[in-house]
Amino acid sequence: MRDIETRADCERLVRLFYGRALEDPVIGFLFTDVARLDLEAHVPRITSFWETILLGAQSYGGGAFRPHAALHMKAPLRRAHFEQWLRLWVTAVDELFAGERAELAKAHARRVAAAFHARLASVERPAGPPGLTITQH
Ligand code: HEM
Ligand code: HEM
Repeated sequence: MRDIETRADCERLVRLFYGRALEDPVIGFLFTDVARLDLEAHVPRITSFWETILLGAQSYGGGAFRPHAALHMKAPLRRAHFEQWLRLWVTAVDELFAGERAELAKAHARRVAAAFHARLASVERPAGPPGLTITQH
């Protein structure tokens, strides 16, 4: 198995990951029902994010945290969601690639996930009506 070498490699990884994430029983609803993600619009941005980190491309402009804060306002992003996100990401990376960049892809995802999770603690969520429990399936 070879390492991540091109933007096309990044896109292949991103497509495999999101194909599964959108159907995932733990986090799928966050993309489909809460964010109503337009995958075709999303893939080039996420591919640029990884191309920037892994291949030094500078094709990603930054500001990755913001959409997650917006999402968190609508449905709280919990530790279990980040853990599942990471599990799917690591599985996808290991299925397709092996090498230094593949390791970096996993390591950087862990760092960003931890940073996002920590930062969300300071994002004000709207107070729900008292006594109302929202169940998510
Ligand atoms: C090749 C070197 C690296 C590149 C090109 C890179 C690139 C990036 C990019 C593009 C982001 C998203 C920033 C944004 O959207 O605002 C990011 C976030 C982050 N990176 Fe790196 N990174 C590198 C190395 C590292 C290293 C060595 C660490 C830590 C040891 C690290 C920790 C983080 C963390 C914690 C975040 C999330 C920041 C936040 O939004 O709170 N990165 N990185
Ligand atoms: C519970 C975990 C996560 C969920 C549910 C989630 C979901 C989402 C959603 C719904 C969007 C917004 C799409 C849009 O409206 O345009 C998004 C954007 C994005 N996510 Fe995540 N995400 C999670 C974790 C992460 C992690 C750990 C990373 C990085 C390693 C990451 C990287 C990104 C990037 C780069 C964007 C694009 C931001 C931009 O448009 O520039 N996400 N995510």
